Formats: sequence, structure tokens, C-alpha cells
Amino acid sequence: ENFWKSNTGEVPPFNTDPAKLEELAKTKLSQGGWLYASSNAGLSHTHTANRQSFYRHRIIPRILVETNQRDTSTTIFGHKVAAPIGFAPVGINKIYHPLGELPVAKVAGELNLPYCLSTAGSSAIEDVGKANGDGGVRFFQLYMPHDDELTISLLRRAHESGFEACMLTVDTWQLGWRHDDVSNSNYAFYRGIGADLGLTDPVFQRKLKEAGIDANTQPNEAGAMWIDSIWHGRAWSWEKMRWLIKTWKEISGGKPMCLKGIQSVRDAQQAVEYGFDGIVVSNHAGRQVDGAIASLDALEKIVEAVGEQTYIMFDSGVRGAADVFKALALGAKFVFVGRLWIWGLSIMGEHGVRHVMKSLLADFDILMNVGGFQNIQQIDRHAIESYEKSY
Ligand code: FNR
Repeated sequence: ENFWKSNTGEVPPFNTDPAKLEELAKTKLSQGGWLYASSNAGLSHTHTANRQSFYRHRIIPRILVETNQRDTSTTIFGHKVAAPIGFAPVGINKIYHPLGELPVAKVAGELNLPYCLSTAGSSAIEDVGKANGDGGVRFFQLYMPHDDELTISLLRRAHESGFEACMLTVDTWQLGWRHDDVSNSNYAFYRGIGADLGLTDPVFQRKLKEAGIDANTQPNEAGAMWIDSIWHGRAWSWEKMRWLIKTWKEISGGKPMCLKGIQSVRDAQQAVEYGFDGIVVSNHAGRQVDGAIASLDALEKIVEAVGEQTYIMFDSGVRGAADVFKALALGAKFVFVGRLWIWGLSIMGEHGVRHVMKSLLADFDILMNVGGFQNIQQIDRHAIESYEKSY
């Protein structure tokens, strides 16, 4: 499928240049929404490094290649999708649009791109499953509570709502120190609106009752209890991972379980040893450990170490098709984007998400055409040249 034709006369609703997109989103969001979404850990060093790392690599275009029949599609965990591009999990979508996660999941289903639902979602798991549709490829991103009964309930709901894989986010059981977010007192701000995924959980509802909290008359207290149960500030251990894999496999009949938030080669090796089905190399868009290495630099080393042994996905800092291409060339099998679609959602809800993601697909399709690549398999280490430093 060609995603874009220049001669249709169709006028795009807004410019998808990432800097302009971000600027426009800022004008549409509440101050709290903007500060929450745009803030990075510390001095934004990691956020900046994520971007700089892409400049260390340059694509080598080929000419006179028969690209008229090019194919952007690929498979992920056995599902054929339109391109190796997915919606990264992002919490509390009602900050950006009153319908929250629903329009995002709907557009992902329509475009046949995988959608990841965050445990910090502001909609019920079941409703997101329905919005994503029967043909939608969807994954559930877990923030794991220190309450196994609650974890089991969330996993069961995800499985029953057609989520095809689970990814445990291991870099965030506590939010990083983000000056803008902290100064904005967002802790209070998102408690009031962000908790619907938890508030609709039968086990969590029982826990609320036991704690003497009525979610109808005390929404802030109920929300606070939910947020505290997923961003509890208490680290998990590798030992617990055996239980998690076993539990998800039993509940789901063997669906894949992945780890999201890997930056170290040793951790990637450990993930393979523990039997995870895949990993997402990610530093959470530079929102957790300031001064941490760029995610793309981590990808290179991790692919070298375990690229043959596990399914490696990537995110953090992707702003266009060339970035997707470079991550694939360095050995990622799949690439997720976060802030791009958040800005689309903030600007124009469902239409905004559709426009941003269709534009990214068009950008990628055109890049393959003018760059001389017929399919995803051809995007390998020979397709780029790499340098010591970005310049
Ligand atoms: C995130 N991310 C994230 N990750 C996750 O596992 N669960 C979550 O709830 C969230 N929430 C979230 C909110 C916001 C505002 C941002 C910016 C990010 C991280 C996300 O999944 C992904 O790793 C990054 O967003 C990828 O980087 P880019 O594409 O935003 O640069």
C-alpha cells in the first residue's frame, strides 16, 4: 500500500514536523498536561543524547532499485502489521483528550499498527480492547503492583480483552525527578483523572472498600490509592520474574511476555536467561535516569550481544521515518513511538493521531522508495554508515 499521494489536493490539517507539532500541542494543552508530557528527568541530558545518537548514523541510499512493489509490512509475535512501527504505552491519556485512550486504540487498529495500553491508562481495559477492534494487534504494558491478586486480575482482564502480549516496564516503579512535573504539583493533578483502568478493576474495587474509600464521593483518594499501587516506589527483583512469566503464561495460554526499559547488555542477557520472549530497549524517552546513555547507543551493543537470541524492540527519541530506519538497521525488529502520537492526540484527538501516524507511515514508505529499499529485511547494517561522534 502507498500511504501518500501528492496529487490528491488534500490539505493536511497541520504540519507534522516534530518541532512544529510539539509547539502546536503546547498551545492546545493545559499547563499541567504540557508539563507532564514534555518533562524529562533532570537536565534533559538523556533526552538530548537520545536525539544526538541518531546523528551518528547516516543512511546509504541505493539507486535504480525496483521499489515499485516495496513492502513496509512485518510481523510481530506472529501478527502481520503494516510497518515495524507501534504505539508506545503512554498513561493517563485523558490529560490529552477527554476520550483518553479510545481514539488512539481505534486509529492503531485502523492502520494495522500494534497498540500498547499502559497500566496507567485512564480507560477500562475492556473498552480499549473494543476500540482497538477485532483485527487490532494490542499489547498490555504492566506496571506491576506489590499485590499479586491485583496483578493477576489486571493480566486476566488484558488476556480476556484480546491483548496479545504483555510487557513489564522495569524502568519505572517510581517516576524520575522531572523538574517541570514536580513544580507543577502533578501528583495531585493526575490522581483526579488518571485512574479509570484501576477503578474498574474488581479486585481493586474490593481493596478500596476494605480501605473504607468510596470512589464516587472520594475520587482523589481512590485515584491516589491506585497510583500508589502501580508507582509504589518499591523495586522488583529478577526472582519475581519467574512468577510473573509463569502467571502470564498460565492465564493467557502462552502469550509472549517481554521486558521494557532495558539499557544494559548484562540485563538483556539476563532477560534471555530468564526466558522472556522479547525486550524493549528504551530509556522511557529520557524521563527516568538523567545522564543515562542514549537508547540507540544501548541498542547497538545489546543487538551485538543477544540479537540472535531474543526479539529486540526499540524506543526513545524517534521523531521520523529516518530514525525508525536507523534503529532497524542497527538490529531492532520493531520501533515504538510515544511523544509523536501524544502531540497528535493533544492537537486534534482522533484526527490528530491518525494524521501523525499516517504521516509517519508515508514518510517511511517514501523513504524506502527514494532510498532504494524494497522490504524491511533489506534494512540492515549495510544500509547505514556509523561515526564515532554525532556531527
Ligand atoms: C511515557 N512512557 C510510558 N511507558 C510505559 O511503559 N508506561 C507508561 O505509562 C508511560 N507513560 C508515558 C507518558 C509520557 C508523557 C511519555 C512521554 C512517555 C514511555 C513510552 O512508552 C516510551 O518509552 C517513550 O515515550 C518513547 O520515547 P519517545 O517516542 O516519546 O521519544
